[in-house]
Amino acid sequence: MASKSIEELPGVGPATADKLREAGFNDVMAIAVASPQMLAEAAELGQSSAQKIILAARVEADVGGFETGDTILERRKSIGRLTSGSKSLNELLGGGFETQAITELYGEFGSGKTQIAHQLAVNVTRPADEGGLEGETLWIDTETTFRPSRVKQMATALELDPDKILKTIHVARAFNSHHQMLLIEKAMEEAEKFPIKLLVVDSMTGHFRAEYIGRGALAERQQLLNRHMHDLLRFGDVHNAAICVTNQVQAKPDAFFGDPTRPIGGHIVGHTATFRIYLRKSKGGKRIARLTDSPNLPEGEAVFIVTEEGIKD
Ligand code: GTP
Ligand code: MG
Repeated sequence: MASKSIEELPGVGPATADKLREAGFNDVMAIAVASPQMLAEAAELGQSSAQKIILAARVEADVGGFETGDTILERRKSIGRLTSGSKSLNELLGGGFETQAITELYGEFGSGKTQIAHQLAVNVTRPADEGGLEGETLWIDTETTFRPSRVKQMATALELDPDKILKTIHVARAFNSHHQMLLIEKAMEEAEKFPIKLLVVDSMTGHFRAEYIGRGALAERQQLLNRHMHDLLRFGDVHNAAICVTNQVQAKPDAFFGDPTRPIGGHIVGHTATFRIYLRKSKGGKRIARLTDSPNLPEGEAVFIVTEEGIKD
């Protein structure tokens, strides 16, 4: 992992470092995955200087090289699966929420996104034979919808000590999209202290949607969301953690976004999220989950319910 500060990269003086930080390039990794054009614009550099800085950052952060298939296979062997509490939802995901992957839950208000995230935070504490990862949770809360009382109910239903479970969930409030992105760095620090196996960002897109309004802001928003997603994915890789992010879709057609079932962030979020699940409400308190994107699983649907005890079949 890159621990050098950005000033230590050749070609980055104090003034350039300030400009880069202002534009959100806070660490070597962020620079390593940037395009020369992005960096040149952010720091008012020439393209070739930007290119040199990026190359140095890539060496430093150890990205951009090739790996052989067996190395990848070895890493994939350590992938864990976290139960959602619903067998059918787990099956839809090939056995549960995967570590080293981002699972995006999208759907309209009340479709169960936050409820599932609460359930995952409880379940992650459990041993592997009970569908857990024996780990703790980092929760980035953008809409103050994290509810300790819900955790208590769900924990009690599983005969777990609710107060103990609450101590394993580390919640940070994100005040705006910029702060939200900075919190991933904090998350890396927290994960040195606690065995974090689940990272929740609820909602991932809320601040971005509120702050970057209209067509003119679209490119910038997508670029930032893209970087945010990559930071999340990196966290998942480094800590072998499951990443669960939520994304609300408009219930009504929107003049700008059109299709009501189209998630915010469009294809950029889609291509970076490993699994995407579209949630919708059905009759009798039922919820329908549809897997709309996955690298290796068929599309399909699962039905589950939200009860006082949590997520069930
Ligand atoms: P937004 O954040 O508004 O986009 O929605 P969301 O998808 O996060 O919805 P959330 O997960 O918060 O789901 C809320 C719904 O879950 C409520 O409307 C209830 O139907 C259900 N729910 C929440 N708590 C309970 C509970 O204790 N018992 C039961 N039976 N249902 C609950
Ligand atoms: Mg919610």
